[in-house]
Amino acid sequence: MTSRKKPEDLRSYRWFAPDNIRGFTHRSRLRQLGFVPEDFTGRPVVAIVNTWSEINPCHAHLRERAEAVKRGVWQAGGFPVEVPAFTITETYMKPSPMLYRNLLSMDAEEALRSLPVDGAVLMGGCDKTTPGLLMGAISANVPSIYLPAGPMLRGNWDGKILGSGTDTWKFWMERGAGQLCDADLRGVEGGIARSPGFCMTMGTASTMTAVAEALGMTLPGASSIPAIDSNHVHMAMETGRRIVAMAWEELKPEDILTPAAFRNAITVDMAIGGSTNAIIHLVAMARRRAIHLPLPLFDEISSRVPVLANIRPSGEFLMEDFYYAGGLRALMTQITDLLDLNCLTVSGKTVAENLEGARIFNSAVIRDRANPLIASGGLAILQGSLAPDGAVIKAVAADRRFWKHTGPAVVFKDFEDMEARVNDDNLVVDENSVLVLQGAGPQGGPGMPEWGMLPIPRKLLERGVRDMVRISDARMSGTAYGACVLHVAPESYVGGPLALVRDGDPISLDIPHRKLDLLVPEAELAQRRAEWIRPVPKETRGYLALYRGHVTQADRGCDFDFLSPLAPAL
Ligand code: FES
Repeated sequence: MTSRKKPEDLRSYRWFAPDNIRGFTHRSRLRQLGFVPEDFTGRPVVAIVNTWSEINPCHAHLRERAEAVKRGVWQAGGFPVEVPAFTITETYMKPSPMLYRNLLSMDAEEALRSLPVDGAVLMGGCDKTTPGLLMGAISANVPSIYLPAGPMLRGNWDGKILGSGTDTWKFWMERGAGQLCDADLRGVEGGIARSPGFCMTMGTASTMTAVAEALGMTLPGASSIPAIDSNHVHMAMETGRRIVAMAWEELKPEDILTPAAFRNAITVDMAIGGSTNAIIHLVAMARRRAIHLPLPLFDEISSRVPVLANIRPSGEFLMEDFYYAGGLRALMTQITDLLDLNCLTVSGKTVAENLEGARIFNSAVIRDRANPLIASGGLAILQGSLAPDGAVIKAVAADRRFWKHTGPAVVFKDFEDMEARVNDDNLVVDENSVLVLQGAGPQGGPGMPEWGMLPIPRKLLERGVRDMVRISDARMSGTAYGACVLHVAPESYVGGPLALVRDGDPISLDIPHRKLDLLVPEAELAQRRAEWIRPVPKETRGYLALYRGHVTQADRGCDFDFLSPLAPAL
């Protein structure tokens, strides 16, 4: 980038320079903090939007890391200000942290819009914080760089390497089957999360930070540096230096986030074997830029992109190994023919320039193009009479014998019903049944909780069953696995066909043909539809009422309708 603003063109100049009573007030308040006008007038003011919180272990180091960002900002001649933002902690927020992605996006957008800032460094990483912060920055359209919190170290117990989430499900299932004692379970509990940082499997956090890098919104290589590696501190400082230059250049999200950048991000998402949640977040981020990403586009890209990251849950290794193997830049060198290399990034350089010199150091972890983990098609978008607006399945995570399967439905009307009955010895279910969960979608959950990996009934677990077809309008953790059909749209809460399914109805899943059908005659369905009664919402006030009233369906990204740039005025 060559153009450079004059100091008087900076946005913050309008707050701090004028010789009027407002300018006087603004200056006096920064002097109250111990600064002098030369510190902040005519210099880019950089907001460090920090989602640090003591309740968020994935971001435990971000308070300290903000100091490294500030160091970089000062070195480059900017003026840093740390701005706390709403923290979303995947582990603790119930019923679903997804409820709060849109709230964080509004928090970030309004902070950037209302404060005297010329640029922003966005600090997050735990699942929803990446899309939330980016959605806010896109809408505010202020020069911004995303700084991923970085993955935590590998888990360790009893000489075994443990992966976040993936091993939680595995060991919990073993315990359910009576194959793990309490003492061993406590050992796993103490060894599975050993440092600050986000989940170190290829769950939603690692997927979304890779997506942020592929979009061009992080500095090259930033997405996979372990949280406590000293290189993470260096990256924080470099990010601080670079955002100052970006403020002078006025390089905004709208200059970077083009349709081609989003196609690059989907391509990388497929090549890393990313979380299904990324689909919803990518659709939502693109819609903030008035870019439409139809669900079949994900399928189309998936069908020609090999999975190269040998990372759990699809593969063997963890994000720490991925970093030592060369990180995302190394992986991207293998798919350059599938990427638009001319896309501009926050570095001020193109994707091609950012990849110069990158290479794979361990091809067991990052596979060569000639030796992929999966040749293509890790993910499938399904449509049919049960999901007219689409549904998603991570095909590679499903037992192959379920790729074409027809079985009778076992229906749970909501999560509580499922919890109450799934382990009941009298439940009529066998390994060919199709478990169906209703009432878990964007409005029904509300917030589409990650209930999509429905538990296998205990009596089947005890018989050695470890996978079966499960269908819901919920999401699924990126670290989970199984033949789980997710994101069924429209959801059951608004009367989608999922609401009409009854026990014993045959359901057909056909992944090769991308079909999901409820095999019930249309006349019978019309009768059920006429009898269907919309649930009465439990919440009538506050944020949850706002959420239910405005959240869009999964195929539209679950954003609030009024946050779309194309939304009609309220
Ligand atoms: Fe934060 Fe998994 S709990 S990324």
